[in-house]
Amino acid sequence: MPDAASIKPAAGKLGIMTAGMGAVCTTLIAGVEAIRQGLAKPIGSISQMGTIRLGKRTDAKSPLIKDFVPLAKLDDLVFTGWDIFGGNLYDAAKTAGVLDRDQLEQIRPFLEGIEPMPAVFDQYYVKRLTGKRIKEGKSKCDLASQIRNDIAEFKTKTDRQVLIWTGSTEIFMKESAVHQSLAAFEKGLDDNDPGIAPSQMYAWAALKEGIPFINGAPNLTVDIPAMNELSRKMNAPICGKDFKTGQTMIKSVLAPAFKTRMLGVSGWYSTNILGNRDGEVLDDPESFKTKEESKLGLLEMILQPDLYPDLYKDIYHKVRINYYPPRGDNKEGWDNIDIFGWLGYPMQLKVDFLCRDSILAAPLALDLCLFMDLAARTPSLRGLGIQEWLSFYFKAPDSAKGVYPEHDLFIQSMKMKNTLRHIMGEDLITHLGLEYYGQ
Ligand SMILES: NC(=O)c1ccc[n+]([C@@H]2O[C@H](COP(=O)([O-])OP(=O)(O)OC[C@H]3O[C@@H](n4cnc5c(N)ncnc54)[C@H](O)[C@@H]3O)[C@@H](O)[C@H]2O)c1
Repeated sequence: MPDAASIKPAAGKLGIMTAGMGAVCTTLIAGVEAIRQGLAKPIGSISQMGTIRLGKRTDAKSPLIKDFVPLAKLDDLVFTGWDIFGGNLYDAAKTAGVLDRDQLEQIRPFLEGIEPMPAVFDQYYVKRLTGKRIKEGKSKCDLASQIRNDIAEFKTKTDRQVLIWTGSTEIFMKESAVHQSLAAFEKGLDDNDPGIAPSQMYAWAALKEGIPFINGAPNLTVDIPAMNELSRKMNAPICGKDFKTGQTMIKSVLAPAFKTRMLGVSGWYSTNILGNRDGEVLDDPESFKTKEESKLGLLEMILQPDLYPDLYKDIYHKVRINYYPPRGDNKEGWDNIDIFGWLGYPMQLKVDFLCRDSILAAPLALDLCLFMDLAARTPSLRGLGIQEWLSFYFKAPDSAKGVYPEHDLFIQSMKMKNTLRHIMGEDLITHLGLEYYGQ
């Protein structure tokens, strides 16, 4: 049943809480303020610039998404968050080195008005960083409860809230007994179980407070049964993981193109250089492993070697990330792709993407906050737990147990737009199109 009439309006202030206030977070917040002041346009944001076709192609009806579904307005966004480093967001944005000094000066007073709250942090989970402003507590439960208090305090200043993890990549973790149920997880919080990482303490706190949680990093965080259970119980949506920005976004466009034309792939070598703090964190092998897993999964899922063994059974897929300080946030990602065609003749494709990591990530973070707030107000979405319809935004989308997630960018886009049509009671678009030919 569509629920257009029962979606709560986006009235009042939407509070966005970011766990981690580094490059992506400051680029998001500075960008929103620059756009609000009319200094820039929201390029890359589907929620702000994207349209959605309704009805037949001949109806010529394609409103802006933000006019079609009730989303919070940029003017109604209020920001706060946590980080292990002190200083205000102007200083943090300068350190991140993404935006030009001149642009930052124009919004300096606004950025200076936001100071991160002390974080829940443990260097065991992010080896390359040393916490400067961190919370003290008797147990993980105590620390997670302090985050709940921060959220409760922010609730007195805003009407609705979402929490987004824009913090660092943690060490590689596997699902264990403590993740299997909410009861086991909450006992683990009391017992200081090493299977519970800081990102999971933020997620638990958000869901306990009934607010949506978004995972922008490749961390395990909410991709466990305990969080799914809590999310459904509290009607607080979850989604993740790892923003699909540069190289992986291009991969999720090229791989479906090869597959749809039944071209084989024998090798795909991807390498990156980047010099921001994220790159420094990923220089640690344990954090790199988390990122590597997140970047590797999609090729196999898109190409389906079990269905097409002649084309994809023997693919050699390698992903490298090298920390190279001179480049800062301006990453370079190379892909060498060995493909083969008719009668097995080999060909090669080279991609060199000189991208800006956080410039690509910030609009995704904005869209996710707005769409997750919409999900929390939408009766047919809020109780689902994982919001797989937002897989469009993630490298390694969380999905229901036993269901593989879609990775093809255009299937993901269609899925997202059809979900919006569905909740608003519009016909889904199947692209069948026989009706134009008198059928
Ligand atoms: N930049 C991109 O394009 C991109 C794309 C996909 C995913 N990501 C992921 O998003 C995350 C953020 O990336 P970034 O470029 O902003 O990194 P960053 O290093 O600039 O910022 C991360 C911030 O998180 C803070 N932090 C770490 N642990 C914390 C904790 N427990 N509590 C609070 N704060 C904590 C760090 O101090 C740092 O300031 C990373 O996990 C990264 O892998 C980034």
